[in-house]
Amino acid sequence: MKTELVYLKPNVVVEPLFDQWYAWTHLIPPATASRNITERHLKIMDSYISDPDLHASAVRDPRMLGGPFIDYGGKRVDEIKALREKTKTERTCLVELSRAVTELDVMLRAEAKGFSLQPLYTRVPQPLRGYVELVYDLNNHPSFRLLESLLYRSKYYDRSAQSLALSLISGDDRPFVLSTPRLESPETIELRIPFDSEIIDWLFRTKYSPQPWDKVRDLLNVSNSRTELLRSMFTHEPPQPYKPYIGNGIRWRYFGHACILVEAAGVSMLLDPVLSYTYESQIARYTYEDLPERIDFVLITHNHQDHVLFETLLQIRHKIGAIVVPPSGSGALQDPSIELLLKQVGFTNVVELGEMESIPFDNGSITGLPFLGEHSDLNIRSKLAYLIRIGGHSLLFAADSCNIDPTLYAHVHREIGDVSALFLGMECDGAPLSWLYGPLLTAKIDRAMDQSRRLAGSNYEQAIDIVNRFHCREVYVYAMGQEPWLNYVMSLKYTKDSRPIVQSNRLIQECLARGMYAERLFGEKEILLSRAAGV
Ligand SMILES: [Fe+2]
Ligand SMILES: [Fe+2]
Repeated sequence: MKTELVYLKPNVVVEPLFDQWYAWTHLIPPATASRNITERHLKIMDSYISDPDLHASAVRDPRMLGGPFIDYGGKRVDEIKALREKTKTERTCLVELSRAVTELDVMLRAEAKGFSLQPLYTRVPQPLRGYVELVYDLNNHPSFRLLESLLYRSKYYDRSAQSLALSLISGDDRPFVLSTPRLESPETIELRIPFDSEIIDWLFRTKYSPQPWDKVRDLLNVSNSRTELLRSMFTHEPPQPYKPYIGNGIRWRYFGHACILVEAAGVSMLLDPVLSYTYESQIARYTYEDLPERIDFVLITHNHQDHVLFETLLQIRHKIGAIVVPPSGSGALQDPSIELLLKQVGFTNVVELGEMESIPFDNGSITGLPFLGEHSDLNIRSKLAYLIRIGGHSLLFAADSCNIDPTLYAHVHREIGDVSALFLGMECDGAPLSWLYGPLLTAKIDRAMDQSRRLAGSNYEQAIDIVNRFHCREVYVYAMGQEPWLNYVMSLKYTKDSRPIVQSNRLIQECLARGMYAERLFGEKEILLSRAAGV
């Protein structure tokens, strides 16, 4: 009998889940996961159970976009109740860990007044004993340092919380990930596979390297009632073959948001991978099918969910040579190490790059540059802009870097010189601190303080200063969250009067008036650069 060979369809969405919630980076480190369970998930579920209709109307209100509201039209309350109970019983130790973080903070605020912290170790709540060092800053403000590596090796890191949900997609609409847990549905297959499993790499290879259907069925081990649905996610039709770049210059392609592929002979780099699946749409875009077989370097700028997206990273893990990340390791609750969390979910090739450090490659280099702001003035070190020198060009990917203190770039310019092309995010409104970091706080923040401390990128004045400083010839505004296929992680909808649009329009007009090339990227874009003479 002939073996039936099948490919994974290019419109199969694979959502990584943590206890039915979309797995983003704060759900992997035990301490941040514990805080998000008690302060985000349980609270949202409590609120939905007590007033589902309020959530339904809030989800319909564009002003509430990205708010803590479950998107099930006021229905499925019993399932949310069941998930809440399951979370409380199965994650007891994480609930206790979260409580311990609060108790430790309360104790330190009350007791640590500048004298030795040694007597306070016996008062560290039991779940955190041996996992923290108590510290002061130089002004006697007490805090604690988490021993992250040990926490990953403890009962607090449980891979059984991880699973993958497979479904077919035909349009851009998906509910916002931070607020809506993924419930079972007749169209979804949930695979109880932890993220570090090699089956994941095998599964995503079947997108372009077909496998026997029998093997797919056996390895994914779904129930009989789901076999037909699983079969509908596979096809006999091979994907469009990828056409590698064979020119002797440089090609870069914009895939949406902050995701850009840079290719030249012998090297490929992908920044902040966040990709669309392949389906019919009015908006042209590059998708997973437009990636090369191998990506030498994946470069991650910072730990926000629109820049480190497991959903994309897991799908391309088998293609990646090295994944370059900014360092952390500070042990601060708000700044979990990206290196550690990626290693935890099965990336074996993670490289931390420091500020002003470089990785050379044939005829070029990648340099990490400082990146200020956009993190609500929290002490978060894991953020990096990248300068790519290639073929006589220098491309600066500054992501959401906010040019709060232009003197920084004066120092950087002194070191690296001019830059030919700048890529800069200008989401200059930004969400308030509590939107992302609220669950980590153990004391209520004053509303005015919260509103003043935003996750905001550069405005016009800050952006033009960078352009002037580095004498850029090309300017691209990117990372604006405008592509509709990213709404599920971004929850942004601009009008023509939104400040990020007005400010970035002004930057583009100013650059064009000076005879430069400038554009706000949207959808897809390809630029070919010729190699400078002698390079
Ligand atoms: Fe960001
Ligand atoms: Fe961003």
